[in-house]
Amino acid sequence: MSTPPVLETRGLTRRFGGLEAVADVSFSVPQGEILGVIGPNGAGKSTFINLVTGHVKPSSGTVLVHGKDMTGAKPWTLAQARVARTFQIVKPFRGMTVRENVAVGVLYGPNHAVTMARALVRADEVLDDVGLEGARDRGPAELSTADARRLELAKALALDPELLLLDEVMAGLRDNEIQPGLDLIRRLRDRGLTILVVEHVMKAIREVSDRVLVIHQGRVLTSGEPDEVLSDPRVIEAYLGKRYAERHEGESGA
Ligand SMILES: Nc1ncnc2c1ncn2[C@@H]1O[C@H](COP(=O)(O)OP(=O)(O)O)[C@@H](O)[C@H]1O
Ligand SMILES: [Mg+2]
Repeated sequence: MSTPPVLETRGLTRRFGGLEAVADVSFSVPQGEILGVIGPNGAGKSTFINLVTGHVKPSSGTVLVHGKDMTGAKPWTLAQARVARTFQIVKPFRGMTVRENVAVGVLYGPNHAVTMARALVRADEVLDDVGLEGARDRGPAELSTADARRLELAKALALDPELLLLDEVMAGLRDNEIQPGLDLIRRLRDRGLTILVVEHVMKAIREVSDRVLVIHQGRVLTSGEPDEVLSDPRVIEAYLGKRYAERHEGESGA
């Protein structure tokens, strides 16, 4: 019997009033894949992540993790099932040090029976991983944008996930800060993680993704190899508008 995908959604839909933020998304992510998810602002990318991680309840449809139905489960339950995510708006605990922030993640993760002393040791390992070891005794408010994103990622990794969903962890970073982020994502995948990367930085998406999924107005517009998808006129049109796509038709060399 073949192993089920790490993540599968079937007809996943979420309405906010009259708006379909996510509409009938059926998709699966196999073990060890880095899936890039792109789409214009308001396309439904964050809502899709929220639906998978239990932060928003689906209006209809199904979420399967390793083939198990997790539809409507709470974030806590999904963390126990080794699903972790970062938030687009970072949410550190302000009254704690960087190290303590990560230790809390360890204590609440699937290995939550560990002692505080052990959690702090594990936190140090995770901080090493993300390159934040030098800031472990600082407060989250003292961190640069790039380091605040590293902390957000460290908090997710503290849960020891098998599926990691990243919501724009590179937004606002300088070019020289993006490369270490991409290297880290690849390193995590090489350790066996399956990673869903929502990102606006196209260079990052092209470089790191095995496959790209495009969401537009809540629906799957297309998916496939990064180069193929990013030169698709429908994708360019979704991002830049129809007039731009027509004017530049045939120029992409696709
Ligand atoms: N809690 C909410 N209540 C009402 N509307 C929401 C809520 N969350 C998201 N939306 C709407 O759903 C759509 C998709 O939002 P979002 O998933 O944040 O898009 P993206 O992450 O792709 O920019 C947007 O129109 C947004 O305004
Ligand atoms: Mg978003």
